[in-house]
Amino acid sequence: MDIFVDTAKLEEIKKAESWGILDGVTTNPSLIKKAVEEQEDGKSLEEHIKEILKTVDGPVSLEVCGSCYDDIVKEAEILYNRFNDVNNNVVIKVPINTAMEQDDDNFTGVKAIKHLTDKGIPVNCTLVMSPNQALMAAKAGADYVSPFLGRIDDYIRTNMGMKRGEDYPKGTYFPQELVDVVRDQKLKSNIKDLDWDKTVYKNKEIMNLYEWGNDDGILSGVDLVWSIKQIYANYGFDTKIIAASIRTERQVRQCAEVGAEIATIPFNVIKKMMTHYKTKEGMKSFTKDVIPEYKDIVEKS
Ligand code: G3P
Repeated sequence: MDIFVDTAKLEEIKKAESWGILDGVTTNPSLIKKAVEEQEDGKSLEEHIKEILKTVDGPVSLEVCGSCYDDIVKEAEILYNRFNDVNNNVVIKVPINTAMEQDDDNFTGVKAIKHLTDKGIPVNCTLVMSPNQALMAAKAGADYVSPFLGRIDDYIRTNMGMKRGEDYPKGTYFPQELVDVVRDQKLKSNIKDLDWDKTVYKNKEIMNLYEWGNDDGILSGVDLVWSIKQIYANYGFDTKIIAASIRTERQVRQCAEVGAEIATIPFNVIKKMMTHYKTKEGMKSFTKDVIPEYKDIVEKS
């Protein structure tokens, strides 16, 4: 699995690159805002982006800001033409659906993706929250699709009545098994006085409990990746999955298990992936046990 770092902070990108495990970078307007707010090197945003591109010999996603077709296409072309010459590694990020209001067109994003990929501009289709959106992205020729794992987990927890911040912090992992346990308990307490055969399928509250913790059959962010993987395999799409909006090391491991081609990971999560208590303990005991004769072989040659 390729590892991308999900940041626009140069310091983090350079550090991850120095470890020799970095395959690419993803940015978005929020990550650029954070990086610019923190940067103190006096560089213009254009210089900053160019330096990111030069630092990594792998795809770097730059997102469009517009939401109407003409703006998306124009911005994508400007970004690509201005920056791709730097290191030939620009990928344009386009949301699958740019609609924000009831009457907005739901197909603007996908139409723009089709136009750009037909012109040979590589596209990372972003803000993908469902398998059907991922199917559309692949049909439009997107090179990459970015399902947002953490935000799907947030959405499922919100549907269960949990509030981020109050009931759980952003970086926690909420296993599907726990959703099942809580739902089963609720079901048991709700159905004890009911005639299951006659009543249960007519009882809206109980039927809602079956949908609880379930986003159109998707049970977690990782489950979304699994579903997209199945769909792409069924039809031989070569769109690569970038598992995005990752919050924990456990999500990274599960994405690798289900075969996501790429995970774009926050810098602090990449760091956590390397630590284990027993590795540290082993290092201490091996270091303590080195005998002088063994050391001499290296030191005196
Ligand atoms: O890759 C998308 C990512 O930057 C969004 O992450 O944690 O804000 O959902 P998050």
